[in-house]
Amino acid sequence: MSDDSRPSPPAARAAARTAAVIPAAGRGVRLGPGAPKALRALGGTPMLIHAVRAMAASRAVSLVVVVAPPDGAAEVKSLLDAHALPERTDFLVVPGGQSRQESVKLGLDALPPGHDIVLVHDAARPLVPVDTVDAVIEAVREGAPAVVPALPLADTVKQVEPARTPGEPEPVVATPERALLRAVQTPQGFDRATLVRAHETVTGEVTDDAGMVEQLGLTVVAVPGHEEAFKVTRPLDLVLAEAVLARRRLNDGF
Ligand code: C5P
Repeated sequence: MSDDSRPSPPAARAAARTAAVIPAAGRGVRLGPGAPKALRALGGTPMLIHAVRAMAASRAVSLVVVVAPPDGAAEVKSLLDAHALPERTDFLVVPGGQSRQESVKLGLDALPPGHDIVLVHDAARPLVPVDTVDAVIEAVREGAPAVVPALPLADTVKQVEPARTPGEPEPVVATPERALLRAVQTPQGFDRATLVRAHETVTGEVTDDAGMVEQLGLTVVAVPGHEEAFKVTRPLDLVLAEAVLARRRLNDGF
């Protein structure tokens, strides 16, 4: 790339190599006490390994960068060494930061040149199917600077005035039209230069990377997400994830 601050032209992107950054440095306090969330087992295998395999399952992904808990990079490295992973994919482990945003930035900083499409994928979404990963990459290749997998909402959403004390009644201030809303998942896909620029220029807390690209004034597009790409956040999500894995084993015969 001659100029790191400009999106690469779509023609170049069509042939671009893809890297995936997996922020896995969170503690996962909402899941209850125990090991960092990404290191907890699902079907006997750490959640992070499932997430790494989900990214490496895409033939387009040639590098996976795992952002480990700040003091856990060595542990994560040996974890990757101990599990079977595709040989055509390279793996890197870097220590993360205090916020998800900081962890993603540290992952981006570690990317070698030559990968002009970047996916950012939560370790906490271990079961995303490869078709969803490929659909995101395809939309970036076709020219979108930022792509999110998204699903329509089952619940109606209310905007409230948050209570000062948890559990207190909260006044409802608005009801956005449900048909216009989407729940956004990962992997989110980016033209690399655009994502780097977003992380260099946007300050303030954001909950996803595409939100930073929106703040640059660029158009983010949504492609269909998948119900199995849900985020493992609370104890009940672990039960659901185990059930999805059990169903896959039955269907695949292993
Ligand atoms: O906390 P939340 O579920 O939103 O975290 C989403 C992802 O960001 C998780 O995979 C988590 O490990 C990661 N994260 C991180 N560094 C932090 C906080 C969260 O890599 N400091």
